[in-house]
Amino acid sequence: MPFGLGPTPLTYKIAPMSDNFAANFESPSPERLSFWAEQANQLAWHKPFTKTLDWSNPPFAKWFEDGQINASYNCLDRHVLGGKGDKTAILFEGEPGDTQTYTYSELLAETKKAANALLDLGIVAGDRVAIYMPMIPETVIAMLAVARIGAVHSVVFGGFSADSLRSRIFDAGAKLVITADGGFRKGKAHPIKEAVDHALQDNSCPSIEHILVVQRTNSDVALSDKDIWWHEALAKAAPEHEAVGFDSEHPLFILYTSGTTGKPKGILHTTGGYLTGASYTHRTVFDLKSETDVYWCTADVGWITGHSYVVYGPLANGVTQVIYEGTPDSPNFERWWEIIAKYKVSIFYTAPTAIRTFMKVGRAVVDGHNLSSLRILGSVGEPINPEAWQWYHEVVGGSKCEIVDTWWQTETGSIMISPVPHTMKTKPGSAQRALPGITIGIVDENGSPVISSAEGSEAGYLTIDQPWPSMLRGVWGDPERFIETYWSRFPGKYFAGDGARFDEDGDIWLLGRIDDVIKVSGHRLSTAEIESALVEHHWVAEAAVVGAKDEITEQAVVAFVILRQDELGDAPNEEEIGKVLRSWVTEKIGAIARPRQIMVVSELPKTRSGKIMRRLLKDVAEGRPVGDTTTLADSSVMKAINDKLHNGATD
Ligand code: WTA
Repeated sequence: MPFGLGPTPLTYKIAPMSDNFAANFESPSPERLSFWAEQANQLAWHKPFTKTLDWSNPPFAKWFEDGQINASYNCLDRHVLGGKGDKTAILFEGEPGDTQTYTYSELLAETKKAANALLDLGIVAGDRVAIYMPMIPETVIAMLAVARIGAVHSVVFGGFSADSLRSRIFDAGAKLVITADGGFRKGKAHPIKEAVDHALQDNSCPSIEHILVVQRTNSDVALSDKDIWWHEALAKAAPEHEAVGFDSEHPLFILYTSGTTGKPKGILHTTGGYLTGASYTHRTVFDLKSETDVYWCTADVGWITGHSYVVYGPLANGVTQVIYEGTPDSPNFERWWEIIAKYKVSIFYTAPTAIRTFMKVGRAVVDGHNLSSLRILGSVGEPINPEAWQWYHEVVGGSKCEIVDTWWQTETGSIMISPVPHTMKTKPGSAQRALPGITIGIVDENGSPVISSAEGSEAGYLTIDQPWPSMLRGVWGDPERFIETYWSRFPGKYFAGDGARFDEDGDIWLLGRIDDVIKVSGHRLSTAEIESALVEHHWVAEAAVVGAKDEITEQAVVAFVILRQDELGDAPNEEEIGKVLRSWVTEKIGAIARPRQIMVVSELPKTRSGKIMRRLLKDVAEGRPVGDTTTLADSSVMKAINDKLHNGATD
């Protein structure tokens, strides 16, 4: 059975591949394999593995295949049994200022009850459970409870709209949603359950049997007969639950992420390899001293960074960590720095967007706090510009902390490129080196390695050239897409979708996405997905979306739309139309995808074969002179767009 699944087998069919295809893949050396076996053996296995890697059917890897393991056991029971039960696991800081502490024993006790509550609801190994929650301890408990019984979680970021939630629940065929009445954001109780009700209305996701609702804000919520309060379910559940081992390749979670096409893809990670990657990189990149460190990663668990570096990596390594519910500016921009000082955080991991926001606000909000506990500062999600790096180093780190700029992706499961603290001199703006165990390449258009010399190298495409334990195992329900997206562009190599170059020292500089994926405040969005949301509106005939450079958020969404004159009726003026469409995108995808600007145009620049030339639109959106228009079918189109822009008729 594929992936060693339990009672709900996946319908994964392995696409037929020619002998030639498989022959392109490199196999890791025996030394590389023993390196990974050694890392995996730092985890507790219910049944030890004897085979490190089966790479006989690439790109379908099987790591530690004959071993059995339980992720929840590794994050909890192992520490409690090892005498660390009284150690603090979570220091929770709610946005309104409420706090809560969980020791490893307490976290285990709650997780056991939650696991039993899930079993009481009929959830069994292999079932999918959607989690749509604020950043509170129950979210971590829910994930660990799902993993504990071998079910598969699909966490959906709480900022995604009801529509986005619906399509993800539907695609995964989830049986249960775990959610909350609300969460605190920007000083207010923000409803969450409402979006779940909206997503499930008219029985649009028939696979859903129940909804478990955590009480966080005490808001009034309408409970239907499928809804059950989390606290009531846990109060009724038996307190003991023994974690059994699952096959190493048993699915641990699905996480939807944006690609180049309109539909987000469910990235599948499995248990043993993923946990090996997350825990190894967490202890290596952050130079972890698990007895004394206080760790804080500001990512939401709705993203891969929250999965690997809030839940699985840190807990598998038994650290004490801070979890904060709210935004960095609630009630003001002092909040994060107060938290670091209060809990004496020593390792801090955040995104460049946040750093740039604070740079703009000014160093006074940071300077008033005692941040002397900090020793390692991490950055993730987008390239960190050297100015932001320097500011992070000096203002936050007091010029004494190591900075780790970590490159990786939802698909890679864990950090791939990063300096290792104290082993190399760090360099502002460069993620530098592949971690031990990882082989990175940069290739040109034809797949030939770019040559790095004393002057550095040309820009090329970033590839990963050998399998690694936390690699994605597939795209949920779509093996062809898995092969096509990641393994076909450059035969035998994993194609990441990023541009990169080597500098004169052989260090790697990331140059951003080369496809239609954009990064807004570190959040990954697809231009195609936003375009399809826009054309779903009856006013819109055609849409083209680009990511335009933004000082704070790295990129911002700018949309060009052609309206359907016959549908406009008594629609308001262009400015109002822009407002309506921006809210429409928020409703369809979520506030993170809301365009900064919508430009109404009468034509879009297209090649003779009908392809929209986004490059030219990007020039317009970024206020540059428009580049070469010779391949356009109608070269007057760009002039018309430019003229319109300069007349100021934008949203
Ligand atoms: C980008 C986030 C430059 C990159 C962990 C990648 C980065 C995409 C960095 C994955 C970095 C992430 N420097 N770019 N340190 N880290 N990226 O799946 O374009 O949300 O392909 O995973 O973020 O985004 P994802």
